[in-house]
Amino acid sequence: HIQAVLFDLDGVITDTAEYHYLAWKKLADELQVPFDRHFNEALKGLSRMDSLKKILENARPEPSFSKEKLSELADRKNEYYKELIRQISPADLLPGIHNLLEDIKERGIKTALASASKNAMFVIDRLGVASFFDEIVDAARIQHGKPDPEIFLTGARKLDADPAFCIGIEDAEAGIQAIKAAGMFAVGVGTPENMKQADFLVEGTQDLDFEKIESAFLLKNK
Ligand code: BG6
Ligand code: MG
Repeated sequence: HIQAVLFDLDGVITDTAEYHYLAWKKLADELQVPFDRHFNEALKGLSRMDSLKKILENARPEPSFSKEKLSELADRKNEYYKELIRQISPADLLPGIHNLLEDIKERGIKTALASASKNAMFVIDRLGVASFFDEIVDAARIQHGKPDPEIFLTGARKLDADPAFCIGIEDAEAGIQAIKAAGMFAVGVGTPENMKQADFLVEGTQDLDFEKIESAFLLKNK
């Protein structure tokens, strides 16, 4: 049976994926490098610095910045982002998430937050759901970002759970790849083209029904 559920944060628990997009867009416009929603899909789940590098690699000619300048730009984006998340409240939980967390808790199944965001603790606190998580993986201590499985494997280890009996929930392609590389069952929130490896796919968080996820997991592991 399922031992643990590991959650991505941005775009799964709350719509901060949109705020990350807006903050990057503002920075990209200032730098006069191309950036749009379509390109943004490829950034979802990636660390702050990996995202910045991808944006710059996409520009022609590709700007070459010193390490100090890169870190200043990443900080600037984070300041824009922090401004956008200041007002987050429990009303910003995505549909179905509170129910899902309750259903999981009622069954005695463990939960972890596996977010690449260094702002995760702040966001989870503002949303009022910190107490639902048995473990929150510290993104600052992760060496290899998604699509590497490290963050999901770390979450499972902290919960003392076997990855083969863990579920990961993600809205990003890099995240789904990370879950699969960790040997877990991957639940994707989004469209099929961004979620090719997902074991179970829903269009939106309102469709994240624990019993349906469990049935799909059991069917796959029969
Ligand atoms: C992920 C987001 O959860 O966190 C990415 O999907 C973001 O878009 C990454 O870049 C890092 O977030 P932060 O808050 O540390 O810049
Ligand atoms: Mg996400």
